[in-house]
Amino acid sequence: MDIYCGDLSADLVGKEVTLSGWCRYIRDHGGKLFVDLADRTGISQVVFDGNLLEPAKVLGREYVIRVNGLAQERDKETIDKENPTGKFEVKAENLIIINKADTPPFEITDEKGKFLAAEDLRLKYRYLDLRRTEMISNIVFRDKVTKAARQFFWDNGFLELETPTLVKDTYETGARPFIVPSRTKKGSFYSLPQSPQIYKQLIMVAGFDKYFQVARAFRDEDQREDRQPEFTQLDLEVSFKDENYIMLLIESLIEKILKSVMNEDINLPLKRLKYEEAINRYGSDKPDLRYGYEIIDITDAMKKSDYNTVKRVLENGGKVKAICFSADYGKSERITKDFMLSAIELAKTNGLKGLTWLFVENGKLKSIPEAIASSLSNIEGDLMSLLKAKDGDIIIFAADLDELLLLQTLGKIRKAIGDKIGKFSSKFSFLWVIDFPLFEVDGITKKLKPSHNPFTAPFTEDMELLEKEPEKVRGRQFDLVLNGNEVGGGAVRINNADLQLKILKMIGMSEQEALDAFGFLITALRFGAPEDIGFAIGLDRFVTVLKEKQSIRDFILFPKTKSFDSPIDGSPTKIEDKRLLDDYKLKRTD
Ligand code: AMO
Repeated sequence: MDIYCGDLSADLVGKEVTLSGWCRYIRDHGGKLFVDLADRTGISQVVFDGNLLEPAKVLGREYVIRVNGLAQERDKETIDKENPTGKFEVKAENLIIINKADTPPFEITDEKGKFLAAEDLRLKYRYLDLRRTEMISNIVFRDKVTKAARQFFWDNGFLELETPTLVKDTYETGARPFIVPSRTKKGSFYSLPQSPQIYKQLIMVAGFDKYFQVARAFRDEDQREDRQPEFTQLDLEVSFKDENYIMLLIESLIEKILKSVMNEDINLPLKRLKYEEAINRYGSDKPDLRYGYEIIDITDAMKKSDYNTVKRVLENGGKVKAICFSADYGKSERITKDFMLSAIELAKTNGLKGLTWLFVENGKLKSIPEAIASSLSNIEGDLMSLLKAKDGDIIIFAADLDELLLLQTLGKIRKAIGDKIGKFSSKFSFLWVIDFPLFEVDGITKKLKPSHNPFTAPFTEDMELLEKEPEKVRGRQFDLVLNGNEVGGGAVRINNADLQLKILKMIGMSEQEALDAFGFLITALRFGAPEDIGFAIGLDRFVTVLKEKQSIRDFILFPKTKSFDSPIDGSPTKIEDKRLLDDYKLKRTD
């Protein structure tokens, strides 16, 4: 009987089994040779002796073999408790060497404490790295989540439809697109979709009212740990529904995924936090609510203090904001003076002039140097009660004229504190952030840009602000946040051609530019566009955070590096000048 290497169990003892796999570890004990045979389901021990001893001696690491033999129990003293098949082994009766293997450039191991080869090397030989149990479990987990999502959408009446990959070059999300030269129309280009956004809107105009897709998206954007230039979205769009429908739908999707894949429960409905409140209380539009450490405005109290550095900012209309956190200061190793110095550095690199920190001891505020606490002595009581400070707590505060910068920087420091000492009340903290501003205002040019994308519908009650105070208009957009990460975003779409054109003009496009880029969408909106709303979960990021891991690369079969290189195949590569010229009429200038 053919079995996987992970299948060996008590039921099979005494039976003939056939296994195919890779020789992971080989141990030659003289009269017996042991091979740990691996495949994607696990590892089984195979014993070669007697006639098979000599043929087995040629085996090397990662050779691919097929063995058949008798499944049997191991001697008690050789049981491997770490391995689920560790009580059993296969006594080989036949060996076929399917293929030899060169010595791997790094050890394929999941052993705790073993040095993991450098990521670049592992990415170059990704097919070897993907043989590690941890990687297999990541990839299988991703498959399970995708499968559960597909089934959920089908069960709820959605059609899985495909949108094109070679599309018109349009400005969409703010990231640069990757462009593809056309051979048949020399000098013209396609671009790769930054998301299926416009096409899923066209699908709604066509009347397929419930669409979903496991869609690949491409963005030539600056790299960060949680971004890849190509990534996957669980993408959906529906007609005739509103925000509430989508949020509840996504909540049941998450509930189904957590239950069926991880056997975890989730408390529903999820909390909905307005953007403004998220920024004011946590300094972030994707706050991690597994811990508290809220930002508190201490401007009024500070006005009465003698702390000159802050007073000067206040006189010019600035604000002071603080965070108090329980750090067991003086007792715990976690928050040291060095950590506080790094927080000050973080504040400065983000554009604040500085950051002050205090600690609470015997009911009193203390500082290094002492002069800071002394200058606050007349507001000590007010501060302590505003911040609910107690012995062992640390208080940080900063003042600035730019309130948003102040909040966002404290938000980053809050996250650094949370990552360091957060006492997590739950494993998963999901929440909705709603009521985003429709536009962001560029600090320097003062130009408007869409805070999500230019297709988001404004709140009807804010429409009258569109002309005079556009920065106050809220967009019908909502993000899904998990443990401080934005794992999804969606919005009600503009379904009126004139309004769509107007918004494009507001973000700086001339009418001609808007029509050149988006004319095909605007035309479609004139042919009976239904109410339209949609959402996309960033699948790579979602599975990474669900598994409480750091790098989305560990959940992508063949990811790119931070500099967009693809170590597995060496791309991007140069293309011969002749081909560029003959096929695409493109000329290199370097
Ligand atoms: P958005 O741009 O917010 O929305 O993308 C949706 C989700 O995709 C993930 N994501 C990424 N993951 C990895 N690498 C990247 N470079 C990357 N960029 C984004 C995030 C994000 O929440 N069309 C809209 C959705 C809609 O409104 O329906 C869109 O693409 O988790």
